[in-house]
Amino acid sequence: MKVAPSIIAADFSRFHEEIAAVEKAGADLLHLDVMDGVFVPNLTFGPMIVEAINRISSLELDAHLMIVNPERYLDQYIKAGVDWLSFHVEATEKPEYCIQYIKEQDIKVGIALNPETPFENIKKFVERLDYLLVMTVHPGFCGQKFLSEVVDKIKEIRNWIEKQRLECILEVDGGINDTNCRIVRQAGADIIVAGAGIFKKSDYKKAIENLRC
Ligand code: DX5
Ligand code: ZN
Repeated sequence: MKVAPSIIAADFSRFHEEIAAVEKAGADLLHLDVMDGVFVPNLTFGPMIVEAINRISSLELDAHLMIVNPERYLDQYIKAGVDWLSFHVEATEKPEYCIQYIKEQDIKVGIALNPETPFENIKKFVERLDYLLVMTVHPGFCGQKFLSEVVDKIKEIRNWIEKQRLECILEVDGGINDTNCRIVRQAGADIIVAGAGIFKKSDYKKAIENLRC
């Protein structure tokens, strides 16, 4: 199980230190929550900040775009140096275009799914994706409560990936902590994202180890 700390939960006044700390603590990826204040009611950061993070971290950058019409900004985030790039299927009328565009840049392409979005809606895309990002909170904020009703969807997706013998990686994001991580792993997650579950703890190394359950 890989662990991707979500820096939205870090202390932004000590950004550099916080990133170095999770890197040292054994993080596998760095999860970047990009929010536009439209698709979600919160605003975070743009490609300039991502570019700066890329300069100070050797971790692979996993950008989770929570923005409407992500096709407008793919290029900027790719140029900023992301290694994994996901967009929300609910936020675009051009999912095919987005998949193709990201694939051509030779980075990992993923689709993110809101808790209430059925797997059925994106099934046809999965064989072309490197990963799926299943949300277990309503996107917008860190520190929310894990929505256990999504667990069945995680299992459904895992079963389908196995049945179809696909390579698609399953990433789960939202409200994951050291008590529910086992449920998420058993449901079939390959990567878990954690914000508060890491950055709100005093020992990041221990927090990451606990999340690997
Ligand atoms: C929610 C974000 C998540 C979130 C993770 O919109 O996509 O990545 O910040 O934070 P926790 O683990 O605190 O829910
Ligand atoms: Zn996220």
